Amino acid sequence: MKKNNVILIGFMGCGKSTVGKKLADALAYEFRDTDAMIEEDYGKTISKMFEEDGEAYFRDAETELLKKLSVEADGMVLATGGGMPMREENATLLKKVGTVVFLETTIVTILSRLQKDTGRPLADGEDREARLRPLFAKRLPVYRAVAEYIVNTEEKSVDVIVEEIKTVVNDATKK
Ligand code: S3P
Repeated sequence: MKKNNVILIGFMGCGKSTVGKKLADALAYEFRDTDAMIEEDYGKTISKMFEEDGEAYFRDAETELLKKLSVEADGMVLATGGGMPMREENATLLKKVGTVVFLETTIVTILSRLQKDTGRPLADGEDREARLRPLFAKRLPVYRAVAEYIVNTEEKSVDVIVEEIKTVVNDATKK
């Protein structure tokens, strides 16, 4: 039987946390954010981790967390870091954890949302757009391939997005 978890994937700034919190309320599930869990476990921010230990260390931490969640998680809405599905091993683990939903947005929306953002090492600093555009293009087909459901979020309110996810997830858990 498929576990009762919903996993939100998508690019930085696509709304995984905002949507995830509301979705968890609506389903009476627990909301967790993988970045926040890693920060808690390792006692440092993601930015510090990138700076002090390197990106590969953070990616290993993501995989370890997913392994744990694939055994333990139940009744959870999980917002994942934007790079999580890129490792093939993670993609397999994500599907094991639960129903994977991709929150699709355009790069234009992402760029406007992340304009003044700090705390995301891959988006911080100069030439944000020049770095994010190719990263977005590379990741988009992977998000689409890993997701069981794709929800287009452009110009939709959080409530509408939550309703859409609730509908598809209810169908999925009936299977
Ligand atoms: C990352 C996205 C971030 C965080 C880290 C790396 C990425 O999470 O995991 O900074 O590779 O896209 P959000 O998608 O929640 O911003």
